[in-house]
Amino acid sequence: MAVLGIETSCDETGVALYATDRGLLAHRLHSQVALHAEYGGVVPELASRDHVRRLWPLVEACLEDAGLDRRAIRGVAYTAGPGLVGALLVGAAAGRALAWALGVPAVGVHHMEGHLLAPLLEPDPPAPPFVALLVSGGHTQLMLVEAIGRYRLLGQTLDDAAGEAFDKTAKLMGLPYPGGPELARLAAEGRPGRFRFARPMTDRPGFDFSFSGLKTQVLLAWQDSDRSAQTCRDIALAFQDAVVETLAIKCERALLHTGARCLVVAGGVGANRALRARLSEMAARHAARVCFPRPEFCTDNGAMIALAGALRLAGGAAEPAAVRVRARWGMDELEPLPPCHAAG
Ligand code: KG4
Ligand code: ZN
Repeated sequence: MAVLGIETSCDETGVALYATDRGLLAHRLHSQVALHAEYGGVVPELASRDHVRRLWPLVEACLEDAGLDRRAIRGVAYTAGPGLVGALLVGAAAGRALAWALGVPAVGVHHMEGHLLAPLLEPDPPAPPFVALLVSGGHTQLMLVEAIGRYRLLGQTLDDAAGEAFDKTAKLMGLPYPGGPELARLAAEGRPGRFRFARPMTDRPGFDFSFSGLKTQVLLAWQDSDRSAQTCRDIALAFQDAVVETLAIKCERALLHTGARCLVVAGGVGANRALRARLSEMAARHAARVCFPRPEFCTDNGAMIALAGALRLAGGAAEPAAVRVRARWGMDELEPLPPCHAAG
């Protein structure tokens, strides 16, 4: 069953075709980074309009890449939230309309469940139970994945998400949008030991995070400095160290607390190399496994939505033909999958 996946929750138009028996057949992405760069952040209305322009050509391109006719599409999955409502509506309306025209079912997918399941696109996918660290621009959550569709929130950020902290910190040092990857690039040339920032909330029990104070620490250090290019790199490294170390401490705690033997990392910040190295080292110490999607499937993409949608459709998810999207959506509101489909 080839399922078309559509992702339009923010500033990437992602489209993919996924078959439960054959895996990923094709995927295409259009990033709006250049469109939003001059504004220093995502402009929601511009994002929606660009999704309208890009979506159909990407669907056509995916079908061509996979060598399929659109009648081969047996189901449509679109991101239904959380995200920018206008942007979500573009993908949801297009997905629903196509499904109706083809006479196939359509399902609205939770964006973060998409991220969480992205490691299943890789060879030797992890099987539940596992701990999942979801680190994106809008979310930082630690979950216990008891089964696919059954998620227990262990902890989350009380203020900024990790990706948001990267982006805001980069912005206050005058770095171009999007700040996360740029800050990570500069950190690679930073000299260790010159600056040190706190590891927020690691001295308290539990799994919650707080990253907003970190950017204030960076602001004070930056204002107090010579603001040279090397200082910028050194601060970037110290900031990245603080975020990475904080995430690693909480992940280690979650593995020990739950007894899970596997950690799955997903979301845009999962593309960060220092984080990948630090979590791999921590997991190895506990003889646990750590699974990351390839970097292009850490950030927003259509493949993760096609996969999550294919699992939901195979599990019997049937929705009335109504376009419904949500700007806010807790993962604990999701229905568990029936056991025979929950193994991935
Ligand atoms: O998952 P994603 O593509 O979109 C959301 O659902 O939010 O995540 C985007 C976030 C941004 O905050 C971006 O700065 C951050 O992920 N990001 C990174 C890196 N690549 C993307 N942060 C740190 N290091 C990176 N290499
Ligand atoms: Zn995302």
